[in-house]
Amino acid sequence: MNTKRLSSNMEIALSAQMNVELLQSHNYLSYGIWASSQGYGGVANFLFRHSKEESDHAIKFMNYVLNRGGKPTIDSTPKADNDPISLTDCFNKVFQHEVENTTAIYNLVDMAMEEKDWATWNFLQWFVKEQIEEETLATSLIDKLKIAGGDRATDESLFIFDAALEKMPDDAPMARDSTSEKP
Ligand code: FEO
Repeated sequence: MNTKRLSSNMEIALSAQMNVELLQSHNYLSYGIWASSQGYGGVANFLFRHSKEESDHAIKFMNYVLNRGGKPTIDSTPKADNDPISLTDCFNKVFQHEVENTTAIYNLVDMAMEEKDWATWNFLQWFVKEQIEEETLATSLIDKLKIAGGDRATDESLFIFDAALEKMPDDAPMARDSTSEKP
């Protein structure tokens, strides 16, 4: 008896998104390594914590596919991004990745709607909310760095910026508030 509750196309698409989240996790790790090597320990710590969050997102997709009777596949992960050339470049790249991820989630939502796969549609709403929070977080980092002086910031203001990121909350309260899925 076939107990799979996902279409084959949806199983492949959700599995692909699991791999995108893993790549995101690697990108954040890579940026964190760069930040640490530049002496920005607070920024690095923030990026490492966020890498873990992306990895949790991948696990969330993995568990969902498994729970619906599918079998996700781990692809070979592409090489992480090149090092940023500055902190501004780093946070611009973070924002760009989050926007790309939002587009990928929206495409999955479209697909779930077309298939009338309401269970998957509901599952994806957690990610729709999460992406609002992720984009807001990335934008606030860009703004904070601009206020600190951007690429022309003094060592003192970068020191304060770095210390602020060390303590910055990186959780996703809006996503946690979602009633459809537990994180
Ligand atoms: Fe998993 Fe930052 O999106």
